[in-house]
Amino acid sequence: MAKIKKPIQVPKGTFDILPDDQKYWKKVRSAVSDVAQSYGFGRIDTPMFEYSDLYMASVGEATDVVEKQMYSFKSKGGDMLSLRPEGTAGVARAYIENGMTNLPQPVKLYYTGPMFRYEQPQAGRFRQFHQVGLEIIGDMDPIYDAEVINAFVVICRELGLQNLNVEMNTIGCNKCRSDFRSQLLRYYKPRAAKLCRDCKRRLKENPLRLLDCKEEKCEQLKAHAPNLIDHLCEECHSHFKAVLEYLDETEIPYSLNPHLVRGFDYYTKTVFEVFLEDEHIVGDDGHPRTEKAEQSSYDGGNEKTHRRSKLALGGGGRYDNLVKLLGGKDAPAVGTGLGLDRVIGAMKQQGVKVPPIYKPDVFLVQLGALSKKKCLKLYEELRQAGIAVAESFGKDSIKTQLRAADRDGVILSLILGQKEAIDGVIIVRDMASGAQETVPLEKIVKILKEKLKK
Ligand code: HAM
Repeated sequence: MAKIKKPIQVPKGTFDILPDDQKYWKKVRSAVSDVAQSYGFGRIDTPMFEYSDLYMASVGEATDVVEKQMYSFKSKGGDMLSLRPEGTAGVARAYIENGMTNLPQPVKLYYTGPMFRYEQPQAGRFRQFHQVGLEIIGDMDPIYDAEVINAFVVICRELGLQNLNVEMNTIGCNKCRSDFRSQLLRYYKPRAAKLCRDCKRRLKENPLRLLDCKEEKCEQLKAHAPNLIDHLCEECHSHFKAVLEYLDETEIPYSLNPHLVRGFDYYTKTVFEVFLEDEHIVGDDGHPRTEKAEQSSYDGGNEKTHRRSKLALGGGGRYDNLVKLLGGKDAPAVGTGLGLDRVIGAMKQQGVKVPPIYKPDVFLVQLGALSKKKCLKLYEELRQAGIAVAESFGKDSIKTQLRAADRDGVILSLILGQKEAIDGVIIVRDMASGAQETVPLEKIVKILKEKLKK
């Protein structure tokens, strides 16, 4: 075996989710599945890697995600594969491949799992991150645009997040976009020298993406650029109007952001991103503070606050042409993705209280070799009877074990010594009063249940 010179660390941009943090993940996953299932979404799990061509065709070859951020590799069989940078493309592929076109439409699917992007890691931006996605495929009714946004907001509210705002825009269909493209070119071409290097390239490849640039000098030019919303065709205009009317009815807080274009080629019509407006932040001193979102960040896994630009909790939009583009029938669709690492970071920052995953009521203390031999079986009997039990079997001293019981905050401790093990009895200790009684071992489950009921 090769000798390692220094300890191997977690790869850059990835992190371990430790037991103390799992309560957040459990809460988020259960809120997601409760809300998704009650809105009629069925769970789908697609592979964590797909043929690279899938992402090139759907997300787009000239996008940052495909061009710069994909983990791509050649398999031993010579196939070009990529770790999934996002979930929508895989779901659209699965929809076609599994004949879901023949099911009653629309088909509503949700998923959760890790995604991979080679990004410059920073607070809230990782190379392996976790997303939940909701997709509604096979219907172009604007109510479904509102439904995915509503489901997103409901999930966040179930998780105790406050002050959400949805930034809304429409990027139209192919028809209105081609008119708008000419308008953009007319505006940007004379100003090309002032653009950043990426935008100079975008001007040739996909001018719409100029509106997505976060570089200071491009932001300044963007302020006076034409808005697509002023160049929509009749159909796109009424679609967007209807989506906003549905949002008004559900009282979802939103604002219009005419420069929101999103980074993937598959989007059409509605696009949106969800942010926290004013964050109630728990400061380093443990007290809540309120800061503008622009000044802070969500830091998945670290409760300390950092200062940087605001990050979206999630986003999404319509992708009416994707299924057809991938070889399926015409199946207009809409969906959203939530960044779970950011959602959990935001829960911590807003001081959301999350119950522990496991809270034992009873602690099993063993003393002596015979007792130790019997305690594993007894532990399992208690567990099977639905009693939440804890132990510290490696410790032999009663003092140490009772201290552990105290730390766990149990109501009762069971003490099984050598004598008790021989006599077939066990001591039940009330942790609050310290009172003890000896009871027959065979009746312990019944006795515990009665005591815990009180
Ligand atoms: P996206 O905006 O690329 O959309 O990602 C959705 C969310 O995933 C982001 O808003 C963010 O919260 C989180 N996220 C993205 N990249 C990272 C990262 N490097 N580190 C941490 N979190 C990250 C999509 O992926 C689309 N598939 C959403 C969608 C579904 N559109 C239609 N259906």
